[in-house]
Amino acid sequence: MSHADDHAGTRRDFLYYATAATGAVLTGAAVWPLVNQMNPAADVQALASIDVDVSGVEVGTQLTVKFLGKPVFIRRRSADEIAAARATPLEDLPDPVDYLYENPNQLADSPALDQNRAMDEAGEWLVMIGVCTHLGCVPIGGESGDFGGWFCPCHGSHYDTSGRIRKGPAPRNLDIPLASFTNETTLRLG
Ligand code: FES
Repeated sequence: MSHADDHAGTRRDFLYYATAATGAVLTGAAVWPLVNQMNPAADVQALASIDVDVSGVEVGTQLTVKFLGKPVFIRRRSADEIAAARATPLEDLPDPVDYLYENPNQLADSPALDQNRAMDEAGEWLVMIGVCTHLGCVPIGGESGDFGGWFCPCHGSHYDTSGRIRKGPAPRNLDIPLASFTNETTLRLG
């Protein structure tokens, strides 16, 4: 697909909903109204953090929520996805160094190892800003593209199961936001 004007709102909205639809639809529908009410257009400062109930996210699916005006992918990865991400040597990565998005808990330039990107030691939870680092489209995924992760159809960027750029014009891995679990089923963004 090639769309020079893909950054128009409609296209991005479409991709957003398409992405959400491939994940946990019911959970997404429950979370969306809550998050949407607090759209940053109203008051960005009031949105320093949000809590997301992830209890309905099954293994191998993804929940997409909107936070600070951007989609955030919350993926609960399968064992195969984790294994694929962890078997990839840094030398195979176009962007082997991560600049983690506003995350004071991480080194500013940590190696883009899956262990550094995932939320938990086992690697089941991966939380990323769902914005292609090329020109800002919302990638489709997971389990999309040549590396089984996310795919940005705007200009053909392929991300792996850790959200790292592997092929295509995007210069950087998908960004990792500040996030933490406040209990077993609640993820706090911000
Ligand atoms: S915006 Fe160009 S490949 Fe994603």
